[in-house]
Amino acid sequence: MIGVFDSGHGGLTVLRALVEAAPDRPFVYLGDHASAPYGPRDEEEIYRLTVAGMDRLFGQGCRLVVIACNTAAAVALRRMQQTWLPTAWPGRNVLGVLVPMVEAITRVPWMTEAPPSDRPPEPRTVGIFATRATVSSGSFPREIGKRAPDVRVVQQACPDLVPFIERGASDAEMAPSVRRYAAELTDQLGGEPLDAVVLGCTHYPLVAHLFAEALPPGVEVLCQPSLTAKSLEHYLERHPEYAPERLGRPVEPRFFTTGAAEPVGALAGRFFGRPTPFETLSP
Ligand code: DGL
Repeated sequence: MIGVFDSGHGGLTVLRALVEAAPDRPFVYLGDHASAPYGPRDEEEIYRLTVAGMDRLFGQGCRLVVIACNTAAAVALRRMQQTWLPTAWPGRNVLGVLVPMVEAITRVPWMTEAPPSDRPPEPRTVGIFATRATVSSGSFPREIGKRAPDVRVVQQACPDLVPFIERGASDAEMAPSVRRYAAELTDQLGGEPLDAVVLGCTHYPLVAHLFAEALPPGVEVLCQPSLTAKSLEHYLERHPEYAPERLGRPVEPRFFTTGAAEPVGALAGRFFGRPTPFETLSP
């Protein structure tokens, strides 16, 4: 099985794309609803919670986990891979949602940490909308900068959006915040045109239309779930040892939460597009 981890139900937007790309692969989803949201938490807490999530998913029999949460991936993934994972769970691996996005922006494969001279990356100016923790981790600008130093990156934290989306707020309620965040991001550019934006939080694809309305015309909105799905398939081709056997027929994912299954399941269907029968996974 391939695990998919998120702080709550936002990662279901990523799982949905993964299942659409490979409906016959067995996925297991874990939302850490008992501790969500991660966005306002400090680095140590996010690291500790993410490690606990990996323990749970590996304990369920996953050999590979995709961290669908930008906040967890930005803050904890590199440290976990370098320190904890090789000794705690040798032979297992963890991927995140940042890498496919950085590769798409820079056009430089992750393992090549130097830009090729003959393929200038596009777009030239990229805006990142994300949680406070993702923005303050500096992961997006750092990883883009290493591979494509000519790409200008500006970031904007959007702390109102996750709570709005969690409680099912209407477009009319959310649009003023999205407009304000879009204006604050474009103001940082001092008149330079914006080429593309990253909706760098699992929840934001649900309000992608509001971002598209609020941004200047022609700005590309980069879609994390579909990039992650493509990247996972390429990864599994290169690393068949992590690929679960394809079942040759569609298989439903299993849905686990650290919180109360019933209220989680009721809201989560909106993120996944169809019912999500959650089960509570005790520590
Ligand atoms: N899943 C988180 C992310 O993608 C957002 C929700 C949270 O703050 O926990 O950044």
